[in-house]
Amino acid sequence: MRVAVLGVGAVGTAVAELADTHGHTVTALADSESAAVDPAGIDVEAALTRKRETDTVGKAGRESALDGEYDVLVEATPTTLGDAQPGFSHVRAALESDRHVVLANKGPVAERFDDISRLVQQSTGQLRFEATVGGAIPAVSTVEDFGPERIKTARGVLNGTANFILTRMAAEGLDYDHVLAEAQDLGVAETDPSFDVNGTDAALKCVILANVLSYGTAGDPDEAREFTLADAAVDGIRDIPGSALRLAGDDGRTVRLIGEATRDGVRVGPRLIPENGTLAVSGTRNIIQLDTEHAGRLNVSGRGAGGPETASAIFSDIERLDWPATSAPANWGVSDEWPLPRPVIALLSRCWVPLGAERRDIVSSQCSRRWRESQASVGIGYDGYRNGFSLIGQNSYHVAP
Ligand SMILES: NC(=O)c1ccc[n+]([C@@H]2O[C@H](COP(=O)([O-])OP(=O)(O)OC[C@H]3O[C@@H](n4cnc5c(N)ncnc54)[C@H](OP(=O)(O)O)[C@@H]3O)[C@@H](O)[C@H]2O)c1
Repeated sequence: MRVAVLGVGAVGTAVAELADTHGHTVTALADSESAAVDPAGIDVEAALTRKRETDTVGKAGRESALDGEYDVLVEATPTTLGDAQPGFSHVRAALESDRHVVLANKGPVAERFDDISRLVQQSTGQLRFEATVGGAIPAVSTVEDFGPERIKTARGVLNGTANFILTRMAAEGLDYDHVLAEAQDLGVAETDPSFDVNGTDAALKCVILANVLSYGTAGDPDEAREFTLADAAVDGIRDIPGSALRLAGDDGRTVRLIGEATRDGVRVGPRLIPENGTLAVSGTRNIIQLDTEHAGRLNVSGRGAGGPETASAIFSDIERLDWPATSAPANWGVSDEWPLPRPVIALLSRCWVPLGAERRDIVSSQCSRRWRESQASVGIGYDGYRNGFSLIGQNSYHVAP
């Protein structure tokens, strides 16, 4: 896939550096001021060297990254609250031009899930956002695979900085301020740690999970309840005295910042939990626990942050995209371009042709999601990488070999 990356921080840098190892080509890389753009693939190493030396990633203006040629936009600019800008506008621009979007930025799906869902409905591009919840941990996709309607509650430890502080306070009997200074020295906590220690970051992740449960269960955005940060009840860890952790320890318990998401609401706050319980992950580790309807409890744990860890979730998302919106997969072996202009493909993949023939069975499992979801029995389907686009109906017409 051709990938445009917005943001050259820990996440954007790792995505750009690792794209090649996942078989993708970075055609644009942008920071807040500039961009490197080349439809044939930018020189990632040169762009990152330039960023280190001059604080600009290329000679072009940053807007040119969005206007360039790409199949997937990786949005890794800072998470902002309220209107979620500029991330929201980046997502809109990509979806309106029928490109896919993979988010690291939590803002658009935590603060404007409904707007985003409607943009997705209007686009042949798809949106994925695994990296926004729990770094490398497959949280969103596990909920999707299991079926959002079959998950009662998603809870977990979703902020590594807060967890590191609580773990150290309990293990060493130290106070919050002391451990925070240590975490800042180690680079585990930001100079301004508010987002992490007051529970906002964990709450945003839980809001995203609540939206996945709500919209995934309802199916139709008109039927779903939207959650934003304003709906979350949030307490942080700032006011927890070291003595509280010592007392909890005497009783075989400990304290963790636990977030909880259901279809009815979001809560985040310090909770007493068993010292040796599943949720008592230590250091910067995260864990997601899903209470399922028929299969008990699922636990997924791992690294919840970091450039390469978050990039791993982004590459998994790219793999999950149904089919490339604009360019043929590299293994097609005919040409790098689809045999049809992109606007034609966008039109074809939107307009199913319901002629009434019962031929849906011939559509392979790799066909477009829109095809599978549509009730049309004849239409244009993407019949797997080898066969390319086909007009599927009584007369099957293959556009590609
Ligand atoms: N770090 C993690 O472990 C992690 C994990 C999961 C999710 N996330 C989310 O992923 C996103 C990126 O995280 P990060 O740690 O890489 O952030 P970061 O280090 O703060 O980097 C943000 C990057 O975005 C660029 N930027 C700002 N405004 C821009 C704009 N309008 N257009 C293009 N680029 C713009 C900045 O440019 P300059 O370089 O010019 O300032 C910077 O390169 C955030 O939303 C974060 O919440 C991060």
